[in-house]
Amino acid sequence: MTKRKLVTAALPYANGPIHIGHLVEYVQTDIWVRFQRLRQNETLFVCADDTHGTAIMLRARKEGRSEEALIAEMREAHIRDFAGFDILFDNYGSTNSDENRELCGEFWAALRKEGLVVEKSIEQLFDPEAGTFLADRFVRGTCPKCGKQDQAGDNCECGHTYTPADLIDPVSAISGATPEVREAVHLFVELEKLHGFLDEWTQNGKHLQQEVANYLKGHFLGDPLRDWDISRPAPYFGFEIPDAPGNYWYVWFDAPIGYVASTRQWCEANNQSLSDWWLSPDTEIHHFIGKDITYFHTLFWPAMLKVAGYQLPTKIHIHGFLTVGGEKMSKRKGTFIKAETYLNHLNPTYFRYYIAAKLGPRLDDLDLNLDEFVTKVNSDLVGKFVNLASRAAKFVKDTGLSATYPDDGGLFESAAKRGEEIAEAYENCDYARAMRTIMELADKANPYIESKAPWVLKKEPGNEQEIQDVCTVTLNLFRQLAIYLAPVLPRLATQAGELFGESLENWQQSQAPLVGTEINKFKRMLDRVEKESVDKMIADSAAENAAAEAAGAGALASAAQGDDSAEHLEKEPLADECTFDDFMKVDLRVARVVAAEDVPKAKKLLKLTLGLGGDVTKTVFAGIKAAYDPATLVGRKVVMVANLAPRKMKFGVSEGMVIAAGPGGEDVFLLSPDDDAQPGQRVH
Ligand code: 2FM
Ligand code: ZN
Repeated sequence: MTKRKLVTAALPYANGPIHIGHLVEYVQTDIWVRFQRLRQNETLFVCADDTHGTAIMLRARKEGRSEEALIAEMREAHIRDFAGFDILFDNYGSTNSDENRELCGEFWAALRKEGLVVEKSIEQLFDPEAGTFLADRFVRGTCPKCGKQDQAGDNCECGHTYTPADLIDPVSAISGATPEVREAVHLFVELEKLHGFLDEWTQNGKHLQQEVANYLKGHFLGDPLRDWDISRPAPYFGFEIPDAPGNYWYVWFDAPIGYVASTRQWCEANNQSLSDWWLSPDTEIHHFIGKDITYFHTLFWPAMLKVAGYQLPTKIHIHGFLTVGGEKMSKRKGTFIKAETYLNHLNPTYFRYYIAAKLGPRLDDLDLNLDEFVTKVNSDLVGKFVNLASRAAKFVKDTGLSATYPDDGGLFESAAKRGEEIAEAYENCDYARAMRTIMELADKANPYIESKAPWVLKKEPGNEQEIQDVCTVTLNLFRQLAIYLAPVLPRLATQAGELFGESLENWQQSQAPLVGTEINKFKRMLDRVEKESVDKMIADSAAENAAAEAAGAGALASAAQGDDSAEHLEKEPLADECTFDDFMKVDLRVARVVAAEDVPKAKKLLKLTLGLGGDVTKTVFAGIKAAYDPATLVGRKVVMVANLAPRKMKFGVSEGMVIAAGPGGEDVFLLSPDDDAQPGQRVH
């Protein structure tokens, strides 16, 4: 029996607008939810605004209004933007709700009862002018190591990390005042007491992507877990802790409880019971998040759920960040694009499709390349998909579809058989694979109509039946693709449904052709993306960002992105400096993989024959077995260390090394030069 599914996307902060970076996640989650529904699985999709914390308090203060007024305005904007991108929540709550306050009390009581809460006095910088304690990112000063000025509160551009109290001449980013060190009592959760549980839950291979499990093991679970600082002293915008007056729950305590609170609101409005969704083993819980908030969702949140006696997440689906043109989104360059700005210029369907085509099941960042965006959307959606309908529908508007399904050489049947493969890709969040498979099918459907050319048949009398048959086949292939694409392209699925006079709402509809029915008048479904619209969007975006900067939203707003102690996947520290001459000793060359074979007795090795131009080849044993299938390597270019002293290994002599990034195991990424680099060329 398939279980009921509760799905969440991360709650966006109420201190800023939704932008395209956020939208990757909401589109990803919305596609998954729509896919589940298409497969007839009972699915609930909830979200909410994340409203608490210092950033919101400071912004409200600066704008001279209450936090409540600020979050009410942001909520309206967020709801509008999500709807604009066809992201359809069953409930959109707020962490500043009565339901959330009550549930926070319940989770808190459970932590207390379990004896997990302790008090500790800590020293923190305090801004005497703003009258508030300062999180690290609200302090700037001179690096104690290299002396560089105006550095962040916890790390310098030179790579050195420290605490804000170590900074020379620290200043508050809020008021510019010199902060003082003050002591305050905070409440902590002793997470270490749940170490055994978290080890098991994170490492049992069921709930997390393998790279996430490895990251947690390597970065946190190898040592005792630090106590989690869960309270903030007044002033703070949040819920006051009932048994610790003057202290507030830290925003990251009440934010995930917001998932439950939003579900409760929906249950109350729909006469359902919360316990069926959060306390029953018959429900699967799926959280979708970005990799920057891994720590909170994979350690704190399961710990809180466990202690409170709730069901644990079935799966936490974690995605990478969006880059634009290979770079971090930039306000100055106009690539930090707000949802609203996008919608002023472009159709949301384009974005949903492009992002789906890029999203895999892993945590890699995905790049929005604006030229590729235009080409891909035009070629796939307009050229290959919508065109099928627009070319065929007009010829059968009076006759409708043939009464029996004509011989199509097996096209429909073979595409129906690929349905399960596509479904599996959706299920595993491998939308890129699903889109590739669907476009392969479109690539088979198009030559069919081109070769049959009903527009030519139409010129001669007596071809009526053949025209009807050809268009019946073409429209059925279109309909099948529309169903497969429905989770990604809900608007097009609705339009396709209107053409056929039905609603496309069940995956099974893709398995049998439609015959003997009328066809409604074809209405234009999708326009081509114009490069000019994209350019205009970027220009508008740059102008808006510059205007906001000039209006003074600058320093404070960028310091206010995120909240205290947001953990990022850590980067490996840089190696010791080397001289230019040291570097030149390593002879790196472009090489082509001429042959690749498994070394059956070796756990990690593949044997590669690398061509260096002419007939020069080298044999290299590379530890990339877990990450690459040898068959896919042949022909590709790599970079190798060509002058490494040969090493005798158990399976033969290795005459060099291929260059790859990543920690190892499945997470190894070979480097490739651009297309025109030639085997044998030196890399420097
Ligand atoms: O990182 C963020 O944008 C947070 N507002 C996400 C919160 S998700 C959940 F825990 F509420
Ligand atoms: Zn420094």
